[in-house]
Amino acid sequence: MRRIIEKKQTRKEDDTMQSIHMLIGGKRVAGEDTLPVYHKATGEQIAEVATAGEKQVRAAVDAAERAFYEVKLSPYERYEIIMCAANLMRERREEFATTLSAEAGKPIRDARGEIDRAYQTLILSAEEAKRLRGETVPLAGAPGCAGRMAFTIRRPLGVVCAITPFNFPVNLAAHKIGPALAAGNTVVYKPASATPLTASLLCEVFQEAGLPAGCLNLIYGAGGTVGKLLTADERIRMFSFTGSVPVGKALHEAVGFRRISLELGSNSANIVHEDVDDITWVAEHCARHAFVNAGQVCISCQRVYVARSIYEEFCAAAVEAAENFRSGDLMDVYTQIGPMISEREAERIEEWVDEAEDEGARVLTGGNRTGAFYEPTVLTDVTPAMKVVAEETFAPVFSIIPYDRIEEAVAAVNNTRYGLQAGVFTRSLAIANYCAEHLEVGGVIIGDGATFRMDNMPYGGVKDSGIGKEGPAYAIRELTEEKLIVLNVEA
Ligand code: SIN
Repeated sequence: MRRIIEKKQTRKEDDTMQSIHMLIGGKRVAGEDTLPVYHKATGEQIAEVATAGEKQVRAAVDAAERAFYEVKLSPYERYEIIMCAANLMRERREEFATTLSAEAGKPIRDARGEIDRAYQTLILSAEEAKRLRGETVPLAGAPGCAGRMAFTIRRPLGVVCAITPFNFPVNLAAHKIGPALAAGNTVVYKPASATPLTASLLCEVFQEAGLPAGCLNLIYGAGGTVGKLLTADERIRMFSFTGSVPVGKALHEAVGFRRISLELGSNSANIVHEDVDDITWVAEHCARHAFVNAGQVCISCQRVYVARSIYEEFCAAAVEAAENFRSGDLMDVYTQIGPMISEREAERIEEWVDEAEDEGARVLTGGNRTGAFYEPTVLTDVTPAMKVVAEETFAPVFSIIPYDRIEEAVAAVNNTRYGLQAGVFTRSLAIANYCAEHLEVGGVIIGDGATFRMDNMPYGGVKDSGIGKEGPAYAIRELTEEKLIVLNVEA
């Protein structure tokens, strides 16, 4: 029987509650105020963190700027420090995972998986420190340039601001901090207010690994206030943000000519063609991709376009998969789904599903909320205008939509302001190629769902899904300036 998680916010009674300070210039620093941190399944307050005002934000940028000019680590030293931080994180895997599980409401199996991914992301980042290279420019091929040669080198930008979300707070921070440090930048790191504890652990392992003071600074605070202070500081040369479209757009407007990388939302889609071998397996796979992390994944499977001839069978298998998706104690390794990040978020998706139902959608299974927990939900008979289709649900809800022709399915996938990744299940090379050519997204995944991500691949969207690519080898290009050196060898 499904165990529903009731969430009620309480304060831990004993005096073991942690009080976490920020990290500025190598020192732990108190702030203007504090913010409570809750266990997302029990609602119990498990810590409080110091939050920054103008003074601490300025101090963090001061420290990062000073470290950028004064600390000169060689690429090899940067490689060693990041590798050491990765190994220290792996040694403390269980501490990271249990903290992550509590602060994000993530089942322990997924929390451990995220720490393992973050370890790989840091290793990939460390390796990039040694690979930073420019290219030769065949200048002599231009008329009148016989005596000249040119090449480019990659230089760090300076102070980089990493603003990270609550859904993968460790791995997505590793994706920003790892390549930024590998490139020789210094970092001001502002994690999501809901998940500040693993951010502190991450800074600890970098400090312990020997990263000099000021190279990585941690500040906490409500996004709007601290965000405005950060964007107003012109010394920050680049912003790397993962989060919502409205915040991404506001940041983009505020940064002017400075660099920005935005990993924003999506209403990711999969196409399931009639020639798939095993309809049940594909339906289970799509369901798992819709419900993992309670659907709070930018590439969560939100829309599935299924060939009409296999639609009924697909729906039946998806419903069964949803009903078998296990909720329960987050520390139980068999638990697959926990609460959403807040009750408010669960109420939002409840309203969206109710509204869709009022407009004619059918709830095949799920649709109920208890506190912050929203049941794995499968919808059909939806229309493109419904919020559950048109907007990013960021919740354990997906819709199944039948199609007759592949061109129609591709057009429906593209009929949105988002474009992060899309998945295509087919045995036909021609169909796969048609989809790869015509889907308007940053990545097309053939033979798997839109939710597939390995940390070494380029990851980023088109349209409102963002700007730039993550994946250490790709991010590091954006985190560096390509500088041209021309030699007039005949001078
Ligand atoms: C995201 O939600 O953007 C990250 C997904 C992932 O890394 O798997």
